[in-house]
Amino acid sequence: MDEKGLPEESIFNELGFFSESDTNYKKVLSSMCTIPHPIAVKAYQQFIHTNIGDPGLFHGVCEMEIKVIEMTASLLSHSNPKTAFGHLTSGGTESNIEATLHMKNRFLEKHFNANNNADDTNNANNTENTKNTSNAGNSDNANNFKLNLVLPKTAHFSFEKIANLLDIELRKADVDSASRVIPESVYSLIDKNTIGLVGIAGNTEFGEMDPIVELSKIALQKKLPLHIDAAFGGFVYPFISSGTQHPNSFGFDVSGVTSVSIDPHKMGFSVIPAGILVFRDASFLNASLEKIKVKTPYLTSTYQSTLTGTHPGSAVAATYAVMKHLGREGYRQKVADCMDLTHHLQKKLEEVGFKPYIEPKINILTVQIGDYEKTNRIRSKLLKEHGWNISATTTVPALRFVLMPHVTKEEIDDLVVDLKKVLDAD
Ligand SMILES: Cc1ncc(COP(=O)(O)O)c(C=O)c1O
Repeated sequence: MDEKGLPEESIFNELGFFSESDTNYKKVLSSMCTIPHPIAVKAYQQFIHTNIGDPGLFHGVCEMEIKVIEMTASLLSHSNPKTAFGHLTSGGTESNIEATLHMKNRFLEKHFNANNNADDTNNANNTENTKNTSNAGNSDNANNFKLNLVLPKTAHFSFEKIANLLDIELRKADVDSASRVIPESVYSLIDKNTIGLVGIAGNTEFGEMDPIVELSKIALQKKLPLHIDAAFGGFVYPFISSGTQHPNSFGFDVSGVTSVSIDPHKMGFSVIPAGILVFRDASFLNASLEKIKVKTPYLTSTYQSTLTGTHPGSAVAATYAVMKHLGREGYRQKVADCMDLTHHLQKKLEEVGFKPYIEPKINILTVQIGDYEKTNRIRSKLLKEHGWNISATTTVPALRFVLMPHVTKEEIDDLVVDLKKVLDAD
């Protein structure tokens, strides 16, 4: 750090230089984020100094956070949104970490701390694991075996971090040709050490939704929590027009769903970072919250039980503002616009001979143009020779386009022309 500070003008000249290397989202069809709504930006600026980690100083943002959770629970078809429990996070990764942490704590509490009385209702016939859990009930042995989480193999890579962080095995269930998890595969992976299930509403690669109702049946039968990762699809599926015959239930109207992750900083059009983790009700978490809560002697609160300490009240304000400003009607319109872009790209690609890998349900389109090697080559040529940022899928070799509101039809037309050029020259 320099000894002497610089005047404002020099600082902003420098910032301008750095900013030139950042995208303004032109030619970006790889990002699940977009330019925040101006209302969100304005609200963010107004609350820039607030810290929701010290709630006694910021009653206003705390009140807004409660209202955001209530609005989100209502969007997720909760029968009594006021009883939902949750908070804002930095995004899908943090929400998934916290949801899994609670599943793990809940499992440990249920099986090792509750009167030393192991619950054998889950897959009592699983002989492979009987050996490992024969000591269940003895808390000394609580860490002697690996716990597992059953999730679709299309789950976001944040779960890889979670596995490492929480020392959990990921059991990845097979998916069908439309990338939706196969319930029988999920069922077969559950054993006595399973802490919970994950379903996805809007998977990262294809935007597809798992059969949440089927997963819920399994969760209820096995008495397991079911976390829904709706980081991207949470602000899309509820607003897809009814013409697109899709079984849109993935929220709290599905009885086995215990928690949902949904990101305002993606299709919620709020600022970065803004994620939401919401639980059906707090009672599900009581034991776990008790386990992770810490005394906060220097703050205005007595305890803290969130993963992060200091976190931005400005993101809460931005999210509150944009949700209130757009309302369901506004989101419906924005989703319709994104779907219009998606269908425009689909039509243009079809005109040059490419069909989508999966008929797009939401604003993510994938197209197969060859094997992995060719896909990556074309993707990188599109960037190097024409400046297009697009991505590729990993479960099948396909180019992947995310149609966010910053994309225009003119851009799409240019992109398809450039894609054709690159393919012809390859
Ligand atoms: C389905 C899903 N879950 C979680 C995440 C992680 O979100 P974040 O990058 O906001 O942590 C993503 C990001 O793309 C996602 O698509």
